[in-house]
Amino acid sequence: MSYKAGRHFLQIPGPTNVPERVLRAMAQPTIDHRGPDFQILGRELLDGVRDVFRTKRPVVIYPASGTGAWEAALVNTLSPGDRVLMVETGHFATLWKHIAEKLSLAVDWIPGDWRQGVDPAVVEARLIEDRTHAIKAVCVVHNETSTGVASRIPEVRHAIDNAQHPALFMVDTISSLGSIDYRHDEWSVDVTVGASQKGLMLPPGLCFNAVSEKAMVAHAQATLPRAFWDWSSVLAANQESFFPYTPATNLLYGLREALALLREEGLPEVFARHARHAEATRRAVRGWGLEILCSNPDEYSASITAVLVPPGQDADRLRAAVLNRFDLSLGVGLAKLAGTVFRIGHLGDLNDLSLLGTLAGIEMGLALTAIPAQSGGVAAAMHYLQGCAREP
Ligand SMILES: Cc1ncc(COP(=O)(O)O)c(C=O)c1O
Repeated sequence: MSYKAGRHFLQIPGPTNVPERVLRAMAQPTIDHRGPDFQILGRELLDGVRDVFRTKRPVVIYPASGTGAWEAALVNTLSPGDRVLMVETGHFATLWKHIAEKLSLAVDWIPGDWRQGVDPAVVEARLIEDRTHAIKAVCVVHNETSTGVASRIPEVRHAIDNAQHPALFMVDTISSLGSIDYRHDEWSVDVTVGASQKGLMLPPGLCFNAVSEKAMVAHAQATLPRAFWDWSSVLAANQESFFPYTPATNLLYGLREALALLREEGLPEVFARHARHAEATRRAVRGWGLEILCSNPDEYSASITAVLVPPGQDADRLRAAVLNRFDLSLGVGLAKLAGTVFRIGHLGDLNDLSLLGTLAGIEMGLALTAIPAQSGGVAAAMHYLQGCAREP
């Protein structure tokens, strides 16, 4: 392998680019995780991480990838054979379903076409039909990373309330946390699932459960086997700002710094930046004459755009070309979208010029691979970003 000058453009929808300040924070010496210095770090994090979930309640932090937080949400609140309502928004919703099935839960599956989000009316109808309240939880993915579709979580909450159904509400925010507005307490979510490697601008390796009071009540009665994921043992150790196992100390240093970055920029500003970059990206896609996978403009994701290549064309050829020529990584089409879409991650540590560099790489890649497309995408994005730019 030879040195490639300039920085790699990591524009997959996570892991995202890790800012210098976070990298430097993680390079500090590892400390005794049962000592007083760790206690100070632990307290700061356990309090501070609540802000990104917009909750005043506990957030459980695990040293694991997001898949662990999916499993933790289920095993801590449910019992074998419990029914859960899940919605096929894409690849990640499907993976969560598989985990539920492996845990011997009975999944009521609302099928979908992978181009739209959760339909609150369908959720409401299913819950109204469930007169005996056999469904114990509604589990949805806020931002489907495989499709670039963001579901309207407050509307799903209203659907559950309109049906007067007592099911727990669980939401996966793995690719929306820290990039798209999300409010655990205000939207009465019972378990929010999160992870470190996307909007939080950290490497993979941490995941989260934000937990409501109602979820804690369910936890006390739930009988699915749990050991490592058990909220009770983590929360008990957290009382003293420690963890019941060896925590991922250096990732926690990174989390402290990432939370500081988000605080300095301000969460509303972070969300506005993501929305603006997403709009610029969509204008570029339209400029190329290509189609956005998300079919409902009310559900466009602010963190990811999945783009369809024309029929008969191979999206992976484009991905390979931009990687080889421009050191740019784009997201692969997952599962049934393999080869037909490429995904642009525009989340995390990104500014106007890093987005434009990404879009320029794609526009050149389209030309190099002779995928039928027009050349005005970057110009359209520039025009938009220029017009919306703040005055210095
Ligand atoms: C929405 C969503 N949920 C869950 C996961 C699974 O997380 P992990 O791969 O960190 O285990 C991902 C991963 O990209 C995701 O995007």
